[in-house]
Parts: sequence; C-alpha cells; structure tokens
Amino acid sequence: MRVDILTIFPKMFRGPFEESLIKKAQEKGLVEIKIHDLRKWAKDRHKTVDDKPYGGGAGMVMMIEPIYKALQELKEKKGKSRVVLLTPQGQLFNQKAAERLAKLDQLILLCGHYEGVDERVREHLVEEEISIGDYVLTGGELAAMVVVDAVVRLVPGVVGKEESLKNESFSLTTAGGKLLLDYPQYTRPAEFKGWKVPEVLLSGDHQRIAEWRRRKALEKTKKRRPDLLR
Ligand code: 6GU
Repeated sequence: MRVDILTIFPKMFRGPFEESLIKKAQEKGLVEIKIHDLRKWAKDRHKTVDDKPYGGGAGMVMMIEPIYKALQELKEKKGKSRVVLLTPQGQLFNQKAAERLAKLDQLILLCGHYEGVDERVREHLVEEEISIGDYVLTGGELAAMVVVDAVVRLVPGVVGKEESLKNESFSLTTAGGKLLLDYPQYTRPAEFKGWKVPEVLLSGDHQRIAEWRRRKALEKTKKRRPDLLR
C-alpha cells in the first residue's frame, strides 16, 4: 500500500512514522508513506497556498489550484485509490473505516485547516471526508497520523501472529463483526501487596479462561461503551 500525505506542515510528520510498527511496515516494504509539502505546487515565488475568503470574513481558505496540481501528480493510474480530506466536518473515523481503507492500493490524505478549504475541493477533488472525533484540532495533520496508524496496522503482514489482530486491545472482534473492549490482562507477580490475579487465569483451564475473558469483555463494554453493543 502506498500512502501520500499532502500538508502545509510536513515537519509535523517527523517522528510518528519513524518509530515502532509503522517504521517496521515501511522497512518490510508493506507500505510506502510519503509526506508532501503542498507549497511545492504553489505557483508564485512566495509559495502561497491560501487566500482570503470571497465575501469577507476572518481567516484564510486553502486554494484549489495547488491541491488540484498535487493530486494530478500524486494519483497513481492503476490500482484502487482514494482521496480523503481530514476535516472536523467529515464522517467520524472508526475501525470499519480503517478496515475499508486498508484494502486500497493508494491512500491520499489531504490535511485541511479549520479556517477552511475551498468548497470546490470537496465537490470535485476529494472522494471522502474524515474527522477523528468531536473536538477541534488546529489542522488535519494529527488526524492524518491517527488514520495512517489505524489503517497501516491492518495491512496484511504488518502485525505479526504474536500481536494477532483478532482479540486485541480495542477491537476484540466478535462473530458479528462487532467491537468489544478488551478483557483485563495480568502478568507476574500473581500477588502484589495483597492484590491478586483472578484465580481462573492461573488454572490452566483454557476453556474456562476463554469464557471468563469473553464475559469480562462484555461486562466492560456494557458498562463503559454500551453504544458499541447496539
Ligand atoms: Cl480531521 N481536523 C481538525 N482540524 N479537527 C478535527 C479533526 C480533523 N477531527 C477531529 N477534529
């Protein structure tokens, strides 16, 4: 999979993709992540990519032309690709969306800024708009990092058998494709300051352990995130 990120703050991406699983995924050649400075496609010598809004008002608006030119250059001719705008006005991102995007050959992420993007970008250039939650960020950059992280770990081969994808921290995937919160985990010692690990986990009875975990996951989900069960 190839991921192209269009941003006016390319330096923000130093770090997150150079560590951990995402770094390994790139080294293994499973994903290629490229960060592009939108200013590269500006036409004036000041590298302008935003302008005052027609009709007046505060703030600046991201111009369509540099975005159009960038997308023309970055879009690969073959394979399944998707151009996504990161904006608080987008559809809420979730595990289902991550699974869908992980099937693409190319994911192009355009980092919006809250002051706005020329509406024609939405209408004609972007295929989907995503928000990562109901709060306001200064720009789409952090949201793009969140999306890339969630998507890349679903690309086959990125997460090894050991850290298996089914039965994991947030998404303990049930038969119905539903998400449950994870069951409680413990490691040694079996007792610390009198605080004990549940007996069943020390029993070696795999059937009972599986049943206990499933029950705990359901209980926790019911209590904290009943919306996930509906
Ligand atoms: Cl994608 N962008 C911005 N600026 N704020 C957000 C967001 C995106 N998702 C949640 N808040």
